[in-house]
This record gives sequence, structure tokens and C-alpha cells, in this order.
Amino acid sequence: MIRIRSENPSDITAIRYVNEQAFETNAEAVLVDRLRDKGVVTLSLVALEGDSIVGHILFTPVTIEADHAKYEAITLAPIAVMPARQRKGIGAGLIKYAFEQCRRLGHNVVVLIGHPEYYPRFGFVPAKPKGLTSEFEVPDEAWMVVELIDNALDGISGEVRFQPEFADAM
Ligand SMILES: CC(C)(COP(=O)(O)OP(=O)(O)OC[C@H]1O[C@@H](n2cnc3c(N)ncnc32)[C@H](O)[C@@H]1OP(=O)(O)O)[C@@H](O)C(=O)NCCC(=O)NCCS
Repeated sequence: MIRIRSENPSDITAIRYVNEQAFETNAEAVLVDRLRDKGVVTLSLVALEGDSIVGHILFTPVTIEADHAKYEAITLAPIAVMPARQRKGIGAGLIKYAFEQCRRLGHNVVVLIGHPEYYPRFGFVPAKPKGLTSEFEVPDEAWMVVELIDNALDGISGEVRFQPEFADAM
């Protein structure tokens, strides 16, 4: 049985470990620590199997900068599931639970740079045709956005700027 809840301070070491195990380098683990230390975490959830943390998902604020306006949104990054626990629905569970929390918190636009085969099942679509560009050079198919309520992006377009810590992890 998988349980999902917000991270608490005693989870920090385990969250770092999950990110180190899931990714090829420790860049994502370092990124999570730096964003938390800076106090810019919108939402950080862990997935538990018994008492063990087997998955983690993080959201931080981004800005969408147009010529004469600035809009707030969030980005999903990173998401990590322990290699031995992957492909069992834990990632999907984290994303679905997180989206409910995001809506509750009033965040309705989520951008993401990620696997184009994985995220469309959660409603992500290519972000460029929606009028959003990324400050980072990324393949069009990896640059995605989801509107958590209908028409959340109406009237909004521009370049998405991430927390500066992301530049070191790209
Ligand atoms: C991506 C990740 C979080 C998904 O979590 P998960 O618990 O394995 O995913 P789920 O069980 O919910 O979904 C499994 C599905 O995701 C797909 N999937 C998993 N990783 C994928 C990847 N890297 N690319 C494409 N599809 C992927 C599988 O094909 C599977 O699809 P299927 O059920 O149709 O076979 C996990 O695989 C992971 O930690 N990967 C390493 C870190 C990473 O790449 N994070 C994302 C950065 S964008």
C-alpha cells in the first residue's frame, strides 16, 4: 500500500536518497536541497511504502513573462521513484495527488520539461503551441504544460523563467 503525504523535516535525507537513486547524477538531489533551503517550495510530497520513502515530487514557482505583464505558475521538477519500485503506479499516484493539492492551493498552470511519452497521460500538452517558451533550450516535445482548470492559460503567453537554481541542474 502506498501512502502519499507532504514532506516533513525528518524526510530530507530519504528524499535526497530517492533522487540520487532515480537519476544518473546527484544534480536533482542537490537541486531539491537548494530549492528547499531557499524557501521556494510550492509543494513537496513523498510516497511511502510502510515507513520507507519510495517516491518524491516537487513543485516550485515560475514566472511567465510577457512584454507588459508577468504571470505566476509552477513547475513540476523533479519527480523520482526508487528504481526497484518504478512502473507500479507510484509516479502516477504522486502526480494525481499533487494536482489535487495544486488546485486546492490555487495553482492552475503547471509547466514541465520531461519525457514526452510519460506526461501526456496526466493532461500535459506541448507548451509552445499554447504560447509559452522556455528560458532553457529544450526540445519542443519535452516542453509541456497542463491547465488544471479549463482555460487557465487564456490570455497568458510569454517566456517561462525558472528559479535560478535550475540553471545549474540543466
Ligand atoms: C519517471 C518516473 C518518476 C515514473 O514513475 P513510475 O512510478 O515508474 O511511473 P508509473 O508506474 O506511474 O508509470 C509507469 C509508466 O511510465 C512509463 N515511464 C516510466 N519512466 C519513463 C520514462 N523515462 N520515459 C517514458 N516513459 C516512462 C512506463 O513506460 C510506464 O508506462 P506503462 O505503464 O504504459 O508501461 C520514474 O520512472 C523515475 O523515477 N524515473 C527516473 C527519474 C526520472 O526520469 N524522472 C522524471 C524526469 S522528467
